[in-house]
Order: sequence, then structure tokens, then C-alpha cells
Amino acid sequence: MGILNLQMMSLIFFSHVLITNAMKLQVDIIVPSVVLNGKDALLECHYDLDDEGLYSLKWYKGNEEIFRFIPGEEFLSDRIKGFNLPGVKIDMERSDKHKILLQNVNFDTTGRYRCEIVAEGPSFQTMSSARHLNVVQIPSEDPIITGGQLRYSIGDTVEVNCTSKDSLPAVNLSWYINGEQVDRSHLRHYPLEEVEETGLQSTTLGLQFKVRQKHFRHGGLKIKCLATLAALYWRSDERSAEPAAMRSPHNLNEHEAYAAVSPNSEGNSNWFYSIGSGSDSMLRRMSIIALLIAVYLTHQFGT
Ligand SMILES: *[C@@H]1O[C@H](CO)[C@@H](O)[C@H](O)[C@H]1NC(C)=O
Ligand SMILES: *[C@@H]1O[C@H](CO)[C@@H](O)[C@H](O)[C@H]1NC(C)=O
Repeated sequence: MGILNLQMMSLIFFSHVLITNAMKLQVDIIVPSVVLNGKDALLECHYDLDDEGLYSLKWYKGNEEIFRFIPGEEFLSDRIKGFNLPGVKIDMERSDKHKILLQNVNFDTTGRYRCEIVAEGPSFQTMSSARHLNVVQIPSEDPIITGGQLRYSIGDTVEVNCTSKDSLPAVNLSWYINGEQVDRSHLRHYPLEEVEETGLQSTTLGLQFKVRQKHFRHGGLKIKCLATLAALYWRSDERSAEPAAMRSPHNLNEHEAYAAVSPNSEGNSNWFYSIGSGSDSMLRRMSIIALLIAVYLTHQFGT
């Protein structure tokens, strides 16, 4: 691009105007869209100018300047400067003309960050690029399912809640029955709860549906609650119930009952396991065999 071209362009567009063709000063920034509370955030600004052509590089949060690099300043101490704001603490040791490091981010760090490049005169062409950064807090505990029974009969109503506590923003909750996401009509929404001192939010999503035959088609009825927060957090809780009709003719005592237990650290497996002594499980196995024979006989002679 020639000088003449350059001058013509600046004449036409002055500054702060998107320049489309001949002059291609391009600014690309990399700003993480979500950062965990308490971590550091690296913001990068890439542009196509050698140092001689650069008049200044500045970073802004909203409308406030937080960092500047002006290679032409007389005093070294003026060439590179950081300006801290609430939630914006710049690690100057690790910041330069291509990147800035925000230390120990908190909710005040959330905002729009812009890198602005000004080319040297006479054009003082200006280009900038901006992106939003969100600071989030993932829940300290896994989501938890409350309510419900260990056994259900066809026609019973399942009424349970799933709660995830203390995050920002509130997580997204969703319910699955036997692996399939449930219809909206089965969801019960409750207002968010906010802890005043911390600003953290807790959310509850209810599930309510009538038990049908199809729910037991593959054995037990499994319900799962999934909590997600952006791409950073993905945890679930799961419960299983067996059909009340599958109960053996002998009354099962407490120890034989299937129990739903709290989730393991993986947060995504099946927590359904049985407690019981050897003879108890033998008894149950025999009753299942008896049931299978009964089903077989019904199938053979039922019609
Ligand atoms: C679910 O939570 C809501 C709100 O806290 C409560 O009113 C409701 O009784 C709960 N339902 C069950 C089944 O626990
Ligand atoms: C919840 O899900 C919606 C829709 O998929 C998404 O736009 C939103 O960012 C999610 N919120 C969180 C906190 O993950």
C-alpha cells in the first residue's frame, strides 16, 4: 500500500472508522469467555504491525483503560503501564505488547475487554477488537436428588427435586428418565435462591410424572439429573427404583431393599447397588427365575 493511498484513505475515513480494503490493519484478540473465580486470565492481542508502525496499544475494560504500551514514549517507565480497577489486577511481569495477565479474577472482573491498536502518523489509523469475559463459580457440591421412593407401581406418581447449590450463574438442570430427556410438561420450576453475602445462586428443578409400564421395560426405572455450567461443569445424580410388582412373595426386609446411594466422585455412573447377605441374594435370584418362568408361561399359554 502506498503513502498516497494511505493519506487518501485517512482523508476519507478520518479515524475510528472500519477500513475495508487497501489498508488491512487487523486486530485479533483471544479472551476466555468463561474463567473460574480465583484463577488467572490471559488476554491476547494479535495485530499485523511491526514496532516501528505501532503508535500505541491499549486495553480497555468497558470504557476504562487498564493497560497501555507506547513504544515511542521518552521514559522507559512511561512505555508500559497498567491501571488496576476493582477485579482487574494486572500482572505486569507477565504482560507485554501482545498479552496481559489478569490475576486472581473475581466477579468484578466480568466485562467487555477491548484491545485497541493505533498506527503511527500521519494516519493514526485505529483498530480494535473486543470480547466479553465472564467469571463463574462452579458449585462446591454435586447436584442432589431428593424425595422419591425405592419402589413404584404402575400408576404411582414420581415426585422428586434436583438441587444444585452455590454457583454463579445458576447451573442448567435437566432431567432424564431411563436415559431420555423428559418432556417439559413433567418439569416443575422454582425460583432461584441467592445467598446475599456471596451472591451465589442455588437452583431446584422438580420432576413429576406417572409411572407407566414402559418405564420398567428394561428392568428398573432410572432417573437422572444433570447439572451443567457452560463447558466447565458437568455433573449428575442418578436414582433407581424397581417395580413394586417384582417383590418376591417373601417379604423383603430392610437389608434386602435396593438402596440408592450418594454419587461417587465421577459423578456420572450408576449408583444403584444392592445390600444383602448371600442367602438373601440367592432368595432374590430364585424369585427372579420364578418370575421369568411365570412370564414365559403367560406368553406361551396366555393367548
Ligand atoms: C421441591 O422443592 C420445592 C421448592 O423448594 C418444594 O416446595 C417442594 O415441596 C419440593 N418437592 C419435593 C417432592 O421434595
Ligand atoms: C444454559 O443453557 C442455555 C441453553 O443451552 C445456554 O444458553 C446457557 O448459557 C446455559 N447456562 C449456563 C449457566 O450454562
